Formats: sequence, structure tokens, C-alpha cells
Amino acid sequence: MSNISSDLKISASILAADFKNLKNHIHEAEIFGCDEFHFDVMDGKFVPEISMGPIILKSLKNLINLPLEIHLMVDDPLDQVDSFIDIGVDIITFHIEACNNPSELIEKIKSKDIKVGIAKNPNTSMDKIEEFIEEVDRVLIMCVEPGFSGQKFNEKVVDSISELDNLLLRKGMRRSVDISVDGGINSSTIKICKEAGAQIFVSGSSIFWEGEVRSNIMLLKNSLRDKS
Ligand code: DX5
Ligand code: ZN
Repeated sequence: MSNISSDLKISASILAADFKNLKNHIHEAEIFGCDEFHFDVMDGKFVPEISMGPIILKSLKNLINLPLEIHLMVDDPLDQVDSFIDIGVDIITFHIEACNNPSELIEKIKSKDIKVGIAKNPNTSMDKIEEFIEEVDRVLIMCVEPGFSGQKFNEKVVDSISELDNLLLRKGMRRSVDISVDGGINSSTIKICKEAGAQIFVSGSSIFWEGEVRSNIMLLKNSLRDKS
């Protein structure tokens, strides 16, 4: 069986795991082939829900051996970022819609040797991201409105993925900035996103909600291998 290109990564969204069974779910995601974990932070302001913060992350951190991305769905991320930096994570992604001073935040995160991602909602124009693209390691394209696991993929975002892919190609930055997609990623939408140019596929409900984590991950990985 051919391997998935090492550029393509599946990231498991912990938000969708079963919290009664979190230790096992994290372990299974690791041993059955996920490449990263994704930790969704929601503040009840930028999005309606409140999810998890640094106190919970601190106790989970020693269960996690894969790279860890923090997805900050919070207003004024500059005020919230220090505790995540102190815990020691691999990448911190913030929303352009929530941040008044992106360059300052990017600089702060990078100065601690942590990678930076910038996220945009489905209806936010790519122009808002473009001026910061040279400063970041990853662009995360939301494929649903942020706030919940288990929503339906918004087909409209496929054009945004292609637009970003072309923009990065034009700027000669296709190898230095990853395109990540989050929301509604399952065994069919993962293929569409890959074809449009994405490399990192965040998935929550498709991994953790039904059936076995092992076969769910295998299904996603097989779809990435599928050439048809
Ligand atoms: C939603 C979060 C996602 C979410 C993904 O706002 O950012 O990371 O957990 O879950 P699924 O894959 O179920 O859409
Ligand atoms: Zn997320």
C-alpha cells in the first residue's frame, strides 16, 4: 500500500473526543496514525461556546506525544496567548477576525520558537490574510462557522483553498506555508480539499464520534491515497 505523502497530515481535534474516555481516545489517535493534535479554545465571545483553556491543557499535555496546535477562537488573542506559550505547544493559530494587532501577536509567538497559524472564517476575504502571509507558517481555512464539531462542510470554501494555493504559488511560498482545513472534514470532503491544495486536515467528529477510531482514521488516510 502506498504511503501518504509526508506533506499531508491528519490532525485530530480533541474537542470532538469523548471526555469520559479522553486518555484512550488520545492514545488511539496517536497509535492509529494521526500526525498532530488540534486543541480548540473557545471563549464564549468570538464564538458562542466556551470550551477548554490552559488549565485543562496543562494536565492533558503529558498524554500527548504528537505535535500540538492550539486553535484560538477567542477575541483579543494577544491577551490570551501567554499561558499557551508557557505550557509549550508547537503551533498557535489565531483568527484574523478577532485580532487588532496580528503582526505583534505573530512576533510574540515566533520569538518563543513556536510556529504561527492564521485562521479565517468561510466568509472572510483572503485579502485580510494576504498582508500577513509572509510572516506565518500555516493558514487555517475554516470550512464551517467556528464553534462546534459535527457541522456540515461548506462547499464554498473549496474556491478559497484554490485561491490560497495560487496565491502562495505566485509568491514562491508554496513550500513554506501550509494550508490547513478545519470543519466538516470526512472521507469525501478530505479528497476535495486535498485536490484544491490543502495539506493539513483537522478532523473531529469523523474520528471520534462513531465507530472505531482506528477504522475512522484508516478511512481518512485511504481517501488521501485515493487518486480517483
Ligand atoms: C470547530 C472547531 C473544529 C472542530 C472540528 O469550530 O474548530 O476543530 O472540532 O470538528 P469536525 O471535524 O467535527 O467538524
Ligand atoms: Zn479547530
